[in-house]
Amino acid sequence: MPGAIQTVGWWTRPTGFIDRCRKQYGSRFTIRLAAQDPFVVVSDPAEIKQVFTAPPDVLHPGEGTRILEPIVGPNSILLLDEGPHMVQRKLVLPAFHGERMKGLEPMITEVTREQVRSWPRNQSAPIHPRMQSLTLEVILAAVFGLRRGERLDPLREALTEMLDFGMNPLSLLPPARRAPFGRGPWAGFLKTRARADELIYSEIRDRRKRGDEGGSEIINSLIGASHEDGSPMSDVEIHDELMTLLVAGHETTATQLAWTLERLSREPRVLETLVDSVDQGDDDTYLTAVIRESLRLRPVLLNAAPRTVKKPIEIGGVTYRPRVHMLASVWLVHHDPDIYPEPYAFRPERFLESDPGTYTWIPFGGGRRRCVGASFAQLEMGIVLRELLRETRVATHHNRSEPARRRMITSTPGNGAETTLISR
Ligand code: HEM
Repeated sequence: MPGAIQTVGWWTRPTGFIDRCRKQYGSRFTIRLAAQDPFVVVSDPAEIKQVFTAPPDVLHPGEGTRILEPIVGPNSILLLDEGPHMVQRKLVLPAFHGERMKGLEPMITEVTREQVRSWPRNQSAPIHPRMQSLTLEVILAAVFGLRRGERLDPLREALTEMLDFGMNPLSLLPPARRAPFGRGPWAGFLKTRARADELIYSEIRDRRKRGDEGGSEIINSLIGASHEDGSPMSDVEIHDELMTLLVAGHETTATQLAWTLERLSREPRVLETLVDSVDQGDDDTYLTAVIRESLRLRPVLLNAAPRTVKKPIEIGGVTYRPRVHMLASVWLVHHDPDIYPEPYAFRPERFLESDPGTYTWIPFGGGRRRCVGASFAQLEMGIVLRELLRETRVATHHNRSEPARRRMITSTPGNGAETTLISR
């Protein structure tokens, strides 16, 4: 196919396009998008494993995310590779350990209850924007420990503006020649960023002064973390990782929740089973299966981070050389009928029978780049679904599935997951 047609297909019909490619070319094929190096899409679990476990100097996932640098800063775990990436990852990971996650549960429950209470009843409306505001409050509270008040409001405002810039990648390209008198989107972005940075740095300084490293908040974990030589993280490092977690943790979780409701409201049998299990106060077995199945059937990220080939590597018997990118396709492996019978059906029961496989269930990517927020996201999704279903009956007036639409790198429900909430 001509590059232009591939580019249009990739952006406008993100799932249909790659389904069609697999049908035509098999489990592995190359996509050429306008003005980019080729992407080799792999979807066979053995090849995905090779991509996820390649040595850090051979494949570089950090290079593809450079566009985010103006938002997250150069020390972000997302942008780094090899040694420097491992250093940041070791500093960030303890913030997501089990005990800290448990400590965040009451906050997530409380924020959810407050928000759900304010959502309108008995009218059809997209639930995606509501989920966005919910997950933003949750991530701000998880990261900074701020729930309300004079420190939270300006921070929320500045960050929302910055994330809006991030949704439009063109606004993040610095102009070759600055607009006169500091006008134009780039100048606006820099101003907003300066405001956000000031607030974040003042939070960091404040925490250091108070010296409270306890609590479950992520900022406290980073302040307490130290490099291998015993030195603490610098303010700049902490800032960059906090921004990264805000960016990586907010939109993804909101969209996955929206997809889950889009599916549940069209699957009365699954919804009923889930509501029964929540009402009966069962353990989370069925809820967990629903979340896993949602992440399989409607993964918000259709592929893991592209890995740029830095040194020749053999994958599936073919040698790839520098300047191609290896793309593990989440969508294709999740819709492989040999792995998941009836792959397009929403059937949480498949995860009651067996746990997800490391290289066949990859909504959070894998290897040393696997999403650090995976358990946080699933914990949050569970709490939100449980609280929402206790409080409301979930329905939709639309029988047809919503098409997947690309929003930056995420795949979102085309109509924002139109949902009607009826008080129970
Ligand atoms: C449903 C929600 C989420 C999904 C589907 C998701 C998915 C992903 C995926 C696919 C990757 C790339 C992994 C790879 O290429 O191997 C990733 C990386 C990452 N995610 Fe998530 N994520 C979610 C929520 C979160 C949350 C809540 C946080 C933080 C609070 C977070 C923080 C990160 C970070 C920091 C990375 C970069 C890891 C690295 O490069 O070492 N994510 N995520």
